[in-house]
Amino acid sequence: MLRSKIAGMGKYLPKNVFTNNDLTKFMETSDEWIQERTGIKERRYADRTGETTTTMAIEASKIAIERAGITPQDVDFIIFATLSPDYFFPGCGVLLQREMNMKEIGAMDVRNQCSGFLYALSVADQFIKTGMYKNILVVGAEKHSFGLDFSTRGRNVSVIFGDGAGAAVLQPSEDNSRGILSTHLHSSGAHAEILAQYNPGTHANHWMNEQVVADFDEAEIGEMFMSHSMIDKAQLFPTMDGTSVFKIAVDKFPAVILEALQANNLQPTDIKLLVPHQANLRISQFIQKKLRLTDDQVKNNIQKYGNTTAASIPIALCEAWEEGRVKDGDLICLAAFGSGFTWASALIRW
Ligand code: UT7
Repeated sequence: MLRSKIAGMGKYLPKNVFTNNDLTKFMETSDEWIQERTGIKERRYADRTGETTTTMAIEASKIAIERAGITPQDVDFIIFATLSPDYFFPGCGVLLQREMNMKEIGAMDVRNQCSGFLYALSVADQFIKTGMYKNILVVGAEKHSFGLDFSTRGRNVSVIFGDGAGAAVLQPSEDNSRGILSTHLHSSGAHAEILAQYNPGTHANHWMNEQVVADFDEAEIGEMFMSHSMIDKAQLFPTMDGTSVFKIAVDKFPAVILEALQANNLQPTDIKLLVPHQANLRISQFIQKKLRLTDDQVKNNIQKYGNTTAASIPIALCEAWEEGRVKDGDLICLAAFGSGFTWASALIRW
């Protein structure tokens, strides 16, 4: 069976470091609270006007493409995962295609938030396996800092997230015992609203039991998508019931990892490195304990970069590879959980 492999990886983190103490200038919070609840010490924020989700993705992609031994013109498909696109539409994939002078190849954006990179990887894997494409660029990138509520009102969400980008080039593996062994994708919309950004959108309160979004009574047609009331009531920011998300995350993360291991007749002890989506250090530690993994078996870097949503797995995997923690023949497990809810895993024999 033809398998796909990750032939090259790249990452880009903006230079601007924002510590927990820096956040206290804008909101009532503390370094102690943030570190205790999330493990985060600092995060990176993109240059406000000089960098976008796509420009950061381009920097990561250049490195991934070079490490894969190809040029941008060799890429024959782009899959771009983000929840913070440059434009509401079109997606970031086409901007990346244009700015990197790629051929007129297919470009697809994936909107699966924290699981976005694994969904994208899974789609790319299928295209490689069928022989349809030979060089697929898979990207996860976020510029969260542009869309967060930095007042005390938004502190439970805003302290968590950071900006950055990661990229991988997928190619057919010459050795069919190596490469992506399997991917596992799940969703449950039962709790779609507890980690979400409702506006701008076309919902017109359709799914809301109470008045959680703008008051449309007096709204003109067209104002329902984006209204002054939404701005006045700070309803253009993400919202999260963190405690409920935490409880479901610590159930689904281990389950989807075990599902991948069972599908390949493997055990947690076989994992060389688990790279979980960097949601919260406490969640990673919970998964590690549940699966009885050693510190050496788990990659965490949320302390430095915060939660970068679709970018977190490719950034962490790339960093682990750069640190020499990912070697030929190693069993690497990737796992994610987030808004949707969607959750996913992938097993790779490197
Ligand atoms: O990648 C996307 C998936 N997202 C996640 O995986 C997030 C999962 N959830 C979490 O990581 C945690 O729930 C949080 C870190 C977001 C919050 O931790 P928590 O222990 O669940 O705190 P909480 O929301 O229950 O809030 C506890 C208290 C509240 O004060 P009172 O009501 O007890 O007086 C909050 O107002 O902490 C307060 N609080 C803060 N205090 C200082 C909330 N945010 C902050 C803050 N600084 N940034």
